[in-house]
Amino acid sequence: MKLAIIPGDGIGKEVTAEAVKAITRVGEAFGRTFELEHLPWGADYFLETGITIPPDGYDTLRSFDAIFIGALGDPRTPENRHARDILLGTRFELDLYVNYRPVKLLDERLCPLKNRGPKDVDFVVFRENTEGLYVSIGGRFKAGTEDEVAIQEELNTFKGVNRIVRHAFEFAKAHGRTKVCMADKSNAMQQGHALWQRVFKQVSSEYPAIQATHYYIDALAMYMVLDPAQFEVIVTNNLFGDIVTDLGATFQGGLGMAASGNIHPGRTSMFEPVHGSAPKFAGKNVANPIGAIASAALMLETLGLTKEAAAIDAAILKAVRENQVTADIGGKLGTREAGDFIAKEIR
Ligand code: NAD
Ligand code: IPM
Ligand code: MN
Repeated sequence: MKLAIIPGDGIGKEVTAEAVKAITRVGEAFGRTFELEHLPWGADYFLETGITIPPDGYDTLRSFDAIFIGALGDPRTPENRHARDILLGTRFELDLYVNYRPVKLLDERLCPLKNRGPKDVDFVVFRENTEGLYVSIGGRFKAGTEDEVAIQEELNTFKGVNRIVRHAFEFAKAHGRTKVCMADKSNAMQQGHALWQRVFKQVSSEYPAIQATHYYIDALAMYMVLDPAQFEVIVTNNLFGDIVTDLGATFQGGLGMAASGNIHPGRTSMFEPVHGSAPKFAGKNVANPIGAIASAALMLETLGLTKEAAAIDAAILKAVRENQVTADIGGKLGTREAGDFIAKEIR
């Protein structure tokens, strides 16, 4: 299998190295060869060459079986143009419409919510990943003056909403989940989110065995904290999904723990930890590599390598149970040492 590896910026580089270790180790353990090609795109490359992603970059990415990406974002490039082209650009150009973000607590010790354990925090968020407020349609008029007008439109299409909502129900059906909750802000956003309401009603009626519920996004955030056990599958738009998955990450022990996939079923997809480049930790060997390593497991699972993915997840669980982890979740190891422990336990 051919995998593209984009370490990116800041701690992205460090956690990607640990994800690569895990992939290499699982290959050895299961007698599989992964052909890894590292791509240098990121802030350094942009500052040196002026190129965010080369003109044939998206085609290059399409030629791989999957893409792994660390994180993008650098204080030297505050406009974030390279991240827009590389990360969001790939989501859009490869039409990776499913942002799959599992929220799964591995050990009670890691959860900041009172009296909550692994049985209470085990749901998945499906974030629409190709439209919404992220399409950057709009503009600034008289920018920088007191008359400035800034417009940013939210794009919602029937095709886009329908396919992510359907995906959520299909996932629930395939994984024995009994509930799907859709979150929008249709009380205030009466045009775009009326479409979400209509589609959700229509699609849910085709799945009578699955209980369909709805919360406004503000209430969803509140219920996630108050009673996370009620959730099995959540589906929401691009921006809301971004926000609630950082909240979900804290239930798992923090941003360093959360994994994600940007998926177009059946096509080249891209996997990455939920966290960013955390500039304050960059180069210090302190970042938690688990979110990245778990994202590598998601990648293998999506590629059909379920035993390999399970072996990585088991090694992560062992590291957490034995506290062979980084300081953010109570351990004493550095990024590399935590990654070494997990790699060694993969079998
Ligand atoms: P961030 O996720 O980088 O970090 C926020 C805080 O979370 C960190 O300061 C740290 O305390 C903690 N944290 C994050 N990852 C961790 C890890 N692996 N181990 C331990 N602690 C961890 O978010 P931010 O500070 O808002 O953004 C920094 C840069 O990253 C920005 O340029 C932003 O645009 C970018 N970003 C990129 C991605 C991505 O590439 N997918 C995602 C989010 C943010
Ligand atoms: C994420 C990130 C990105 C997003 C940023 C870096 C543009 O926060 O993947 O969650 O908002 O999608
Ligand atoms: Mn985010």
